[in-house]
Amino acid sequence: MKKKFLVIGNPIDHSLSPKLHNYWIKKYRIDAVYEKKLLNNNEIEGLISNIREEKIHGINITVPFKKMVIPFLDKLSTEAEISQSVNTIYKEDNKIIGDNTDIEGFKLSLEKTELETKNKKALILGAGGVVPSIIIALKKMQVEKIYLSNRTELKAIELKKNFPEIETIKWGETLDFDIIINATSIGLKEEDEININYKQISKNKFFYDIIYNPPETNFLKNAKKYGGTIKNGKMMFIYQAQKAFFIWHKVVPKADNETINLLDI
Ligand code: ATR
Repeated sequence: MKKKFLVIGNPIDHSLSPKLHNYWIKKYRIDAVYEKKLLNNNEIEGLISNIREEKIHGINITVPFKKMVIPFLDKLSTEAEISQSVNTIYKEDNKIIGDNTDIEGFKLSLEKTELETKNKKALILGAGGVVPSIIIALKKMQVEKIYLSNRTELKAIELKKNFPEIETIKWGETLDFDIIINATSIGLKEEDEININYKQISKNKFFYDIIYNPPETNFLKNAKKYGGTIKNGKMMFIYQAQKAFFIWHKVVPKADNETINLLDI
C-alpha cells in the first residue's frame, strides 16, 4: 500500500517540501506520496490520530504549528524536547514521536560553508518558531556568544528563559558580530528591508538568511554590497528534509546539484 506523507502549515502554498520529497520518493523507488495540507489549529489533533491508525505515515510541520503539535505526541526526541519545536512526526513502537531536523539542517548548512564558528559572535534577528533550533545549532557549533534582537522585545525575553546564556539587544541596534542571521520573515517580499546600518558593519562578516525564496533578499544584497559573505536558507531546507526522509524511509537521499537545482524558482 502506498504510504502517505504530509506537510502541514498555515499558509502552506509556498512549501517546496512536496516537490523535494516526491522527487526523492521517485528516485529511490519508494511506494509513497507526499502532499501538503492547509490546517487550522482545531484540526491538529484529528490529523495526528491518522498517524496512530496508519492512514498517514509521517508529517512535516511548518509555521505556525511547530510548538502547537507537541501536546498531541507521545514522545519527543532530545532535539525536539530542548527546542520545544517539532518539524517531523512518525510512529515507532506504537508511539507517535516528534523530532526536530531543523537543528541539524541549519548546522550542516553552516558547516558546509567551512565558516569557522568556534569562539565567534553571532547575532540572530527574530524570535519566531525556528529560532530555538538556530540557537541550539549555534551552541553545538561552539559559538562564543549569541545575541538576539526582535521587534517585539517580550518574545526575545521569553526565549531567554529557555536559553539564559543569550543576550538580547534592542530591535534596530547592532553590535560587533561575526555572523548575523535573519530569522524574521522580512525579505519574503522582494521590497522588504531590514533596518540595520550596513555601512557601520565592518567587512568580512557572514550574513545568513533563513529565507531562500527569493534567493537573495535585500538583507543579502546589501551585505554583499558592503563586502559580506552571504548564504541563503536553501541548504538548510534541503538538509532538514534529508534527515526527515531518512527517519521515514531509512534512505539517505542525495543532496546533489540536481536536487539543489530542482528548487530553483
Ligand atoms: P511566529 O512568530 O509565529 O513563529 P515566524 O514567521 O516564525 O512566526 O516569525 C516571524 C518573525 O519575524 C518574528 O520574529 C517577527 O517579529 P515579532 O515577534 O515582533 O512579530 C519578525 N517580523 C515579521 N515582520 C517584521 C517586521 N516588519 N519588522 C520586524 N520584525 C518582523
